[in-house]
Amino acid sequence: MRVGVLTGGGDCPGLNAVIRAVVRKGIKDHGYEFVGFRDGWRGPLEGDTVALDVESVRGILPRGGTILGSSRTNLMKIEGGVERVKDNMAGLGVDALVAIGGEDTLGVARQLHDRGVKVVGVPKTIDNDLNATDYTFGFDTAVNIAMEAIDRLHTTAESHHRALVVEVMGRHAGWIALHSGMAAGANVILVPERPFDIEEVVGHVESRFRTQYAPIIVVAEGAHPKEGQMELATGETDAFGHVRLGGIGQRLADEIEQRTGKEARSVVLGHVQRGGTPSAFDRVLATRLGLHAIDAVADGDFGRMVGLQGTEIVRVDLAEATDTLKTVPAGRYQEAETFFG
Ligand code: F6P
Repeated sequence: MRVGVLTGGGDCPGLNAVIRAVVRKGIKDHGYEFVGFRDGWRGPLEGDTVALDVESVRGILPRGGTILGSSRTNLMKIEGGVERVKDNMAGLGVDALVAIGGEDTLGVARQLHDRGVKVVGVPKTIDNDLNATDYTFGFDTAVNIAMEAIDRLHTTAESHHRALVVEVMGRHAGWIALHSGMAAGANVILVPERPFDIEEVVGHVESRFRTQYAPIIVVAEGAHPKEGQMELATGETDAFGHVRLGGIGQRLADEIEQRTGKEARSVVLGHVQRGGTPSAFDRVLATRLGLHAIDAVADGDFGRMVGLQGTEIVRVDLAEATDTLKTVPAGRYQEAETFFG
């Protein structure tokens, strides 16, 4: 059997660990051959491939990014896209695909499976917002990077008696904000799931200033105020219709400065959260997901995604994984609220 592997969507630490595990186990235990497709769905769409064997995956376990490249190509928006993928797979003798990606990439995988393509999905995203898996790899690394940044920002904010607003990634789900903010003792954490009240935020900030302790506000890029409270700019959209976010941190800092009369600055962590070497947790999770994904291929269990539930790797339908996003539940946010102000 020849298996194609691709990585789509925003990159994250651990992608190479999955690729390595899929290839190593596929060759050793199942006698498979592999073809790497470049840049997400663009690879099978254009027949753009790269060799994938034991040699080419040596040494990639700790490397961030993806040796296959990534893109946000939405082949469902391309006329005749599915047929082109099928033709290219047939031409290359590729029998099945392992697609490593988030909601968009796996959403396409699901539709391809419905149209007869043999595909197994592996969940990835630093946002941790994929359903049917307790964690996605990349998330732990991103949270650790954000936590370390917030720890550092505490000391400089202290010295200058400033409020610092730290904008972290998370379009629709505030997991990175919640975990990094909890881990680093943020003054306030703002998540997309819960529109914030600017007066409450300012109240928390003022309470910290009163105790001579500099406020650190952690805000997810997709967080927004309650209706009618603050004007926000909207950006361009990508092929999957997602707005390019960024800007809430600065907007909040301006508002806090204006309302409190104290200096407030914003720091956007941005792609730093996605770069570099994966944490031990992410390396192990990514490796286990890769091992189980190629076993699913060997079992002919297509249209499925491997995921982590508790400590076990399980298989779930791609539909279950992509139907709804896993957002921060109210109870988890309430736990963090104890420490606000
Ligand atoms: O989906 C992962 C993610 O890192 C989001 O948190 C973020 O909104 C988005 O990707 C940014 O995407 P890009 O790097 O394509 O701008």
